[in-house]
Amino acid sequence: RLLIDFAHSLPKAELHLHLEGSLEPERMFMLAQRNQVTLPYSSTDELKAAYSFGNLQAFLDLYYQGMSVLITEQDFYDLTYDYLTRIHQDNVIHTEVFFDPQGHLERGIDFATQINGIYRALEDGQRHYGISFKLIMSFLRHLSEESAFETLELALPYLDKISGVGLDSSEKGHPPEKFARVFARAKALGLKVTVHAGEEEPPEYVWQALNTVKTDRVDHGNRSLEDPKLIQHLAEHRYTLTVCPLSNLKLCVIGSMDEHPIIRMLDQDLQATLNSDDPAYFGGYVNDNFTAVINALPLTHAHILTLVKNSFTGSWMTDEEKDAAL
Ligand code: ADE
Ligand code: ZN
Repeated sequence: RLLIDFAHSLPKAELHLHLEGSLEPERMFMLAQRNQVTLPYSSTDELKAAYSFGNLQAFLDLYYQGMSVLITEQDFYDLTYDYLTRIHQDNVIHTEVFFDPQGHLERGIDFATQINGIYRALEDGQRHYGISFKLIMSFLRHLSEESAFETLELALPYLDKISGVGLDSSEKGHPPEKFARVFARAKALGLKVTVHAGEEEPPEYVWQALNTVKTDRVDHGNRSLEDPKLIQHLAEHRYTLTVCPLSNLKLCVIGSMDEHPIIRMLDQDLQATLNSDDPAYFGGYVNDNFTAVINALPLTHAHILTLVKNSFTGSWMTDEEKDAAL
């Protein structure tokens, strides 16, 4: 209890959050009604009952279905502002959020509609809650390299609003190297890079993210622990891992929370952080993730402090932004 209260009270940064994954069932139904979109569920309870996933793909199918209610700039604003209002309660003072432009472009929603709504909410959140932010545009890895290049092209007029690019969606069969040229181009444009790797697929995917894509961070990275050389490399180069315990549980990356590798990661000197990934689907925001691991594992006061410190060290804030925030 004491440790949970301590973790909850600390100012934190969140580094792994998909805005579309923060779409709460109540908001989804409200937007469905506002936009006359039909959902294949008659109530929020029925929808929530469907949130039982055997693997990443089972979740992604519902995630893409859920985002179909996002149509107007105001919808993207409301989605983003809801998230900021919620994390303010968790003492999150800085957040680096993903959005999936291709998930909306393929439904006919303009890039401008998406980013203008999201960005306006992020600015309002900074004003009203003091939450600083970075926006990360993520490529869907199940789509082609060409589609990723086209999306990067659409982002060119908005590079002042975008800090980095990411890689998400179905990991299996879509290794990081598929997008090596896209990420090289993004880097040349001055964008940071972060890649989902080793969530379901083997250490080789993490090696590719590091060596071929030259990622700045690794999202998840759980399966890195199967490769001692990789652990050593990640530790030596101080790569940040954005770990998501409730996500890992809901997507069956682990069988139960007491199997979660977060302590093993920290004790092997990996720069791990705790994050919520898709909180509306996985049952909790950042503080809920702290609660879950503290209840299941023998975490110490020092572990908690390290996790929270890592969230700022691993962030893409400048030293000036860190000084201003802390
Ligand atoms: N898109 C949203 N959440 C994701 C996750 N955990 N892994 C891959 N793609 C995602
Ligand atoms: Zn993710």
